[in-house]
Amino acid sequence: MDSIIVTGNGPLKGQIPIAGAKNACLTLMPATLLSEEPLTLTNAPRLSDIATMTQLLQSLGAEVTSMQDGQVLAMSSHDLDNHVADYDIVRKMRASILVLGPMLARDGHAVVSLPGGCAIGARPVDLHLKAFEAMGAELELKDGYVHAKAPGGLKGGEVVFPFVSVGATENALMAATLAKGTTVLKNAAREPEIVDLAQCLRKMGAEIEGEGTETITVQGVDRLRGATHPVVTDRIELGTYMLAPAICGGEVECLGGRIDLVGAFCEKLDAAGISVEETANGLKVGCKNGRVRAVDVTTEPFPGFPTDLQAQMMALMCTADGTSVLEEKIFENRFMHAPELIRMGADIDVHGGTATVKGVERLKGAPVMATDLRASVSLILAGLAAEGETVVNRVYHLDRGYERVEEKLGNVGARIERVSGS
Ligand code: UD1
Repeated sequence: MDSIIVTGNGPLKGQIPIAGAKNACLTLMPATLLSEEPLTLTNAPRLSDIATMTQLLQSLGAEVTSMQDGQVLAMSSHDLDNHVADYDIVRKMRASILVLGPMLARDGHAVVSLPGGCAIGARPVDLHLKAFEAMGAELELKDGYVHAKAPGGLKGGEVVFPFVSVGATENALMAATLAKGTTVLKNAAREPEIVDLAQCLRKMGAEIEGEGTETITVQGVDRLRGATHPVVTDRIELGTYMLAPAICGGEVECLGGRIDLVGAFCEKLDAAGISVEETANGLKVGCKNGRVRAVDVTTEPFPGFPTDLQAQMMALMCTADGTSVLEEKIFENRFMHAPELIRMGADIDVHGGTATVKGVERLKGAPVMATDLRASVSLILAGLAAEGETVVNRVYHLDRGYERVEEKLGNVGARIERVSGS
């Protein structure tokens, strides 16, 4: 297994290109299952999660061709000859459940294994299933698989989500495009990835209104056509690299960055004393020498502070001046990075969903272990601010969501290298 070695150093300077969003791409790819015509995605990120989704779609009979070094994905689902999403693929990635809505909507039946994914909480899929039931599907859970049927096709209905779920909103939205009649999704997620999905589906001929608000209305159509769509910028990769100069000083321009993708996050950077400037090509982040101010953070659905940036923000707060309180409201077990940061000299006290971080002057490099995707990258950020060498083990989590992290950070002056393991 590969490791990443980071040696703490001084200010960073330069530009980091931000890739297309992993989470958007993982919902845009299954959208190919809705149409017999080709769907092409541009600005796709080169990640192992994308390879897993490719493998899953291919197992269902879709063709997926990766072009231009993986940045273009040409997909065609003309002949779907299998409607069973197998456990062996699905267990690797929770987003696999997103093939259920499209297959059910197009062909009236699908069997999908219950998913796995990052170990950051229970993460059931009950909201997805309730949404399909509201559209007339019959569901049965058997041997770890969801067996879904809608013999006469899905019917439009009202889906009221009891709380916000990104994945359930995406799955229901895709299914509703081919349901008979009107579907109204209430308390829908408003994430930029949902807006991106709706825009792509509209290019394919879907009739959708209200994406980006809490009520999305979909008028079902008989069929969808092919389209070409660029994947929206990855706001989590963006936020992560914005924290690099914040944590060890310097000035970095994140190419492709947009304030509207990271508004709540930028407010916290501002409160911490970090400058963010919009440029013609993205966002420039600067941090002069000296410690940042401690700020409190509560994770919320968009447009609130994203849970996917909580671990990275904690890494910054470890060396802030003062005490910060980080509250995790989305996932119940998402402080697994805290014990590793403590091994690097951080002062963190976790109680249930709250972590209290007392800033220390300096972290010290240590061997640490990545336990999930965002935790992995938070340890790399912490390593940038630490004295000496930090060895981040088990970086396969990282490769699920960050392409060429050592190259992107190395190009702005970080001392970082990947060491291949057995
Ligand atoms: C997506 C993102 C993930 C991000 C999360 C929250 C993808 C591929 N992943 O995950 O990176 O951290 O949004 O922004 O886009 N829940 C249920 N029942 C359900 C569905 C969800 O109880 O049927 C719970 C989850 O356990 C969690 C909360 O709802 O506590 C929010 O989860 P959700 O928004 O669905 O996250 P994902 O779509 O899995």
